[in-house]
Amino acid sequence: MYQEQPIRKPITVTTLAKMKRAGEKFAVLTAYDASFAALLEAAGVEVILVGDSLGMVIQGQRTTVPVTLEDMIYHTRMVARGCGTALLMADMPFASYTTVDQAIYSAARLMQDGGAHIVKLEGGGWLAETVYQLSRHGIPVCAHLGLLPQSVHKLGGYKVQGREETAARQIMDEALALQEAGADVALVECIPAELAARLTAALTIPLIGIGAGAGCDAQVLVSYDMLGITPGHRPKFSKNFLSGHDSLQAAVEAYVRAVKSGEFPGPEHCIA
Ligand code: KIV
Repeated sequence: MYQEQPIRKPITVTTLAKMKRAGEKFAVLTAYDASFAALLEAAGVEVILVGDSLGMVIQGQRTTVPVTLEDMIYHTRMVARGCGTALLMADMPFASYTTVDQAIYSAARLMQDGGAHIVKLEGGGWLAETVYQLSRHGIPVCAHLGLLPQSVHKLGGYKVQGREETAARQIMDEALALQEAGADVALVECIPAELAARLTAALTIPLIGIGAGAGCDAQVLVSYDMLGITPGHRPKFSKNFLSGHDSLQAAVEAYVRAVKSGEFPGPEHCIA
């Protein structure tokens, strides 16, 4: 049985905005089923992400590209049953937001059939109109910038983004454009820590980082990576929190504490 936790108010995008303004960091982890979602929430995780990383860690695929909208709706629905107060973020899968109409359809399915509170999509300034229209239709959006795993075949691999000044400037400009278009939250993956810190300061919306240093407003990890379940190579920016703890709950609580105190990620988790 999970330990009883004090009842907390539901976390919303407004809660996250207030936390940013107060300089209070928040913790994000992925979940793909009800039991894990309940465990993460009980350990104090504020945002539960149903990531399309499920293609790799649940389905055993090599990339997130094969994940379908139906896959995402199924897992989001399972996670929604396990969580009561965490903000439930769901990924829009590959090619499910190629037009504004398709994006509204996909996001509405994730919210109506899956129970998501906010959707995440990968891309830059070219998504400004889509983000604007989603916003206008009452759909909260998280804009995922930097390394875009759905574009792995185009990028030629999972590579650090924004190392050169022009690429860094482009990520900065695109993040600001998506914020202007109505994004409620941004997420950056695998960019230099110094660029992520500058972005955190420039944006008024909260910035979640993965492989982007300690300067972000929040951190996210794939839960299977931070529990050492993912077979094979663990990314350098991740950490096995289960090692040294005797339960999943204790490991997730340690992650939440480390994110909130700014202890994780440390310099050893920096990739650029
Ligand atoms: O799919 C996912 O789990 C993600 C995180 C890696 C941020 O997008």
